[in-house]
Amino acid sequence: MSKSLSIIGCGYVGCVTGTCFADMGHEVTLVDIDPSRVYSINEGHSPIYESGLEDLIKENRKRICATTDLRTAVNNTDITFIAVGTPSNVDGSINLTYVFNACKEIGEILREKDSFHVIIVKSTVFPGTTDTQVRQILEEHSGKKAGIDFGLGANPEFLREGNAVQDFLSPDRVVIGADDPRTANVIRDIYAPLNPQIFTTSIRTAEIIKYTSNAFLATKISFANEIGNLCKTLGVDSKDVFDGVGMDSRISPAFFRTGIGFGGSCFPKDVCALLSGARDCGEKLNVLNAVIATNEAQPLRLLGLLKRHLPNLKGKTIGILGLAFKPDTDDIRESRAIPVVSSLCSEGAEVIAYDPAAMDNFRHIFPHITYTSSASSVLEADAVLILTEWKEFEYLDYSGKIVIDGRRIEAARNHATIYEGVCW
Ligand code: NAI
Repeated sequence: MSKSLSIIGCGYVGCVTGTCFADMGHEVTLVDIDPSRVYSINEGHSPIYESGLEDLIKENRKRICATTDLRTAVNNTDITFIAVGTPSNVDGSINLTYVFNACKEIGEILREKDSFHVIIVKSTVFPGTTDTQVRQILEEHSGKKAGIDFGLGANPEFLREGNAVQDFLSPDRVVIGADDPRTANVIRDIYAPLNPQIFTTSIRTAEIIKYTSNAFLATKISFANEIGNLCKTLGVDSKDVFDGVGMDSRISPAFFRTGIGFGGSCFPKDVCALLSGARDCGEKLNVLNAVIATNEAQPLRLLGLLKRHLPNLKGKTIGILGLAFKPDTDDIRESRAIPVVSSLCSEGAEVIAYDPAAMDNFRHIFPHITYTSSASSVLEADAVLILTEWKEFEYLDYSGKIVIDGRRIEAARNHATIYEGVCW
């Protein structure tokens, strides 16, 4: 049955969630404090670069509206998802300011609302956040009781940027955290059109399932990269190794691609938040400390390989192919390109960069490097580093070039005159 939903936050998660819910037949109001995101959605455009999202917004325009007015959105709907950002503080701990601010506003609105409203935290938050601080803020500001006067739940999101729409509409599982059956049923009904595998549990457990999933995948990547580094030294191709290892059904081949490490808005931030939160609880997560250390060192190995061929980078032109943290997104948060470009600049290299989607975002951090509108002009540089595996990089002519590859582009591996792969 169609529901009336408001989604707070029109970023990668909120916008995809809202649009997909509309596609499933629900009436959706998207809310953001950024008027340009709201304007863009109401004009039928996606405020973020995500494959298939703009078409889906256009197809479902009659069931989607966007606004900056949270009060009207909550008042006119029965269920509110909180999908605002939960960035890292400088010390790696989680910054919950956006979540708490949204909760204060929602609480005030609930004070005057008679019907049973359900609030669901979709943002990734440290286990215990929703059933303690979020609950407390909502109860304080509404003067009402969670589980009795309003529903409170957690529904962490597992979509991957670049494949977000498909991931949302065909999830491996939907995790529902609710401490009262009424709220659990409401969330279950929302997802019913997808007929997904559902795992229902407590709010706190749902929260830690999300962190554990991300931490495990990050661990798999750092583990693969460490073994990959050893393979390179031993003259073994790490791809063959992980193809062989991944055939073991207990292990699976997923996330065994060696390279320059993980970036993005989730893995680095969530692992650091888990480490920091665990420290506060008196627990030490040794494995995850090593995961982060390996991930920090990995992109810089490319520079070591580059210097085998160009020992002094001062005044040399270095081409960069790929700035986004992964292909098919414009997201550069924690992109491995950031430490690489930063090191190249500090060694006096002239950097010329190309990315099909992420150059505008990267320009905010590095306004002084050269950006070019074609991948082939990057190949004119003294040497080229490949940092993101965009499909179009497979179709370039690398002959006569020095290429240091962090992402295993076969055309470069086969045709570059001098070629170094980070783990192969
Ligand atoms: P984002 O930074 O792209 O978007 C957050 C949006 O919330 C922004 O547009 C911001 O203006 C808006 N916002 C902040 N405070 C607001 C308020 N009080 N009222 C209305 N809007 C407000 O963040 P993203 O990437 O969508 O992440 C959201 C949450 O989902 C985070 O907790 C993240 O860890 C989690 N997540 C992200 C995934 C991803 O791939 N990006 C995947 C799974 C979970």
